[in-house]
Amino acid sequence: MRKPFVAGNWKMNTDSRSSVNLAKRIASGSSEVAGHSVSVAVFPPFVYLELVAKALSAFSVAVGAQDVYCESKGAFTGEVSSPMLKDIGCTYVLCGHSERRHVIGETDELINRKVAAAITGGLLPILCVGELLSERDSSQTEQVVARQLKSGLAGLSAEKASAVTIAYEPVWAIGTGRTATPQQAQEVHQLVRNFLAAMYDSQLAQETRILYGGSVKLDNSADLMGQQDIDGLLVGGASLNADDFLAIIRSAA
Ligand code: PGA
Repeated sequence: MRKPFVAGNWKMNTDSRSSVNLAKRIASGSSEVAGHSVSVAVFPPFVYLELVAKALSAFSVAVGAQDVYCESKGAFTGEVSSPMLKDIGCTYVLCGHSERRHVIGETDELINRKVAAAITGGLLPILCVGELLSERDSSQTEQVVARQLKSGLAGLSAEKASAVTIAYEPVWAIGTGRTATPQQAQEVHQLVRNFLAAMYDSQLAQETRILYGGSVKLDNSADLMGQQDIDGLLVGGASLNADDFLAIIRSAA
């Protein structure tokens, strides 16, 4: 059984005080379900990770980073490594979020190195994949998602790949208010699971959690979670409001 997983990606939002307040409200409001019937994680900006990790130390809400560099240390000005993130209490890390791919310009190859480095450093990567609107409109969704998965997981043994969570986030649904329908999302989630079975084996495919992300809100979260291959939600905007995020957690639990 795949335990539902709800993750809140705060992106470049909050400040030191509001990040701690938000984390505490989420943790206390979800204490009956978090860690038991649902995995919950929050992804604050780098500079507030340690504060949030400390605030959550007595709770079952995990902390993750929004990005990581692919080397463990050295002359990489401005970058942050997996051992550093692990050191301050991170469990998860997002790799290849669409804003990193399409705004910052990260390549499949760099994302693959980040996923590998995260696992080596003891973090659990969430590999994000998803097509642009133009790619969906020209029927390239399957091809794009397959390429991102194949290159994102390249060189990883089944044992290492079992540490990875996949997040399907159609780029046209992120921050746009336009969610994929539960059926559209389920279709791609099933494709992802089939790719994993083909790349590895059916056990790994059955055990891997595949999250949906892109304008998830309280009013669509239960329908999305009702789909067979949707195991959780990666929530952006709605995760900045504790009440909304808690309601989404409860809808998944
Ligand atoms: P959104 O963001 O929920 O604001 O669309 C999702 C994400 O980018 O992870």
